[in-house]
Amino acid sequence: MTSLAARLRVSLGVPHTIIKSFSYSSLPETHQILQKTCREFAEKELKPIASQLDKEHLFPKEQIKQMGNLGLMGINVSEEYGGAGLDTLALSIAVEEIARGCGGTGTIVSVHNCLYANLVDRVGVKEQKDKFLPGFTDGTTLGCFALSEPGSGSDAGALTTTARLDGDHWILNGTKSWVTSGYEASAAVVLATVDKKKKHKGITAFLIPMPYPGLSLGKKEDKMGIRASSTCNLILEDVKVPRENILGEVGEGFKIAMTQLDGARIGISSQALGIAQAALDCAMDYASKRIAFGTPIIKFNAVQERLANMATRLETARLLTWRAAIMKDNGQKFTKASSMAKLAASEAATFVAHNCMQIMGGMGYVTDLPAERHYRDARITEIYAGITDIQKLVIANATVKESGVASN
Ligand code: CAA
Repeated sequence: MTSLAARLRVSLGVPHTIIKSFSYSSLPETHQILQKTCREFAEKELKPIASQLDKEHLFPKEQIKQMGNLGLMGINVSEEYGGAGLDTLALSIAVEEIARGCGGTGTIVSVHNCLYANLVDRVGVKEQKDKFLPGFTDGTTLGCFALSEPGSGSDAGALTTTARLDGDHWILNGTKSWVTSGYEASAAVVLATVDKKKKHKGITAFLIPMPYPGLSLGKKEDKMGIRASSTCNLILEDVKVPRENILGEVGEGFKIAMTQLDGARIGISSQALGIAQAALDCAMDYASKRIAFGTPIIKFNAVQERLANMATRLETARLLTWRAAIMKDNGQKFTKASSMAKLAASEAATFVAHNCMQIMGGMGYVTDLPAERHYRDARITEIYAGITDIQKLVIANATVKESGVASN
């Protein structure tokens, strides 16, 4: 397979102002080719196995390798380090198409790209990139991101994993939780505090190869959905990390993580769009074939009303997601925009999957058809990378700040 970067010779220089309207046909040609390539790949390689991956909790190793060959495991990573060198809009389009084929694989691709590969490329120094990017961008292996803990999720600044300086090394102790791809990863970005008294200003990011002495994995979580993707705790017991493995500076970890999460929320929004699109496709296919009272049910007003609401919620969310991606690519502040995209897309995914099941009745509720999987896969998008209530907090704070109204 020819790499995407080679096929596209990317339009990174193409200013997004050339997007005349928000439809696939008005995207730059490179993004249209990317969308078509990802759609074909997902239809051929992911959709047929998505149910099996879900039922058997299987990691799609071979397909990840194929996506690596296509350039999809380092979408925003510079070509110098084996990435595709594409922009955030491209990432959104690719993740949506992959998640349309398989929601769980969408998680793997989104989290690896947004919370590992792009993070190392964005913040790492040359020596770190030389060590922690090759192999991670071609689908050979994955990276993971460890911020949350059993006692701190939404309040990320309250993390308690400690890092103590001992000569040329930092000694890390603590437990990180909800780590996506922990079982398959060959490196982790771990957030720990060098001084709890400093609150978020003590938080520091460390790069740790895996496996590594003192670092062990908790049980694989038995999740409701996205079951192709593993989730587990990382347990750190006197993990001795060399000083040169600090990502950024000591005390910069919280800001690094927050900035990265702003981008990752675009990735999760895109995954939600893919799941929603798959559910809408599934509902329309069923409704066009199912006969009731002598008529295909797609002709009934009640079904049409549902389809209209589903399509509108999905398109609205896509517009917000592409807007956030374009703002990021244009170097604008996009924190509020990415939280709005995440809020709208995750709720759209749940809404569309719910209505898909209603249209399909009993057939939506059994595992013979994919509707119930879409419903289960959709739910996580309202939870991870910041639960819906946190997105609302970010949006409200930014809106009030922009308005100039005093908030004290
Ligand atoms: N970008 C850059 N800096 C930011 C920032 C952002 N988006 N948000 C906050 N900061 C900075 C602030 O400017 C402030 O800096 P100063 O100290 O210099 O003033 C500092 O960080 C502290 O800011 P706050 O006081 O606003 O921070 P807070 O403690 O109140 O937390 C929060 C803010 C938005 C609630 C944040 O904790 C948050 O996003 N929580 C959710 C965490 C989350 O999304 N977790 C998901 C984990 S990853 C995951 O889910 C795994 C997966 O696989 C997907």
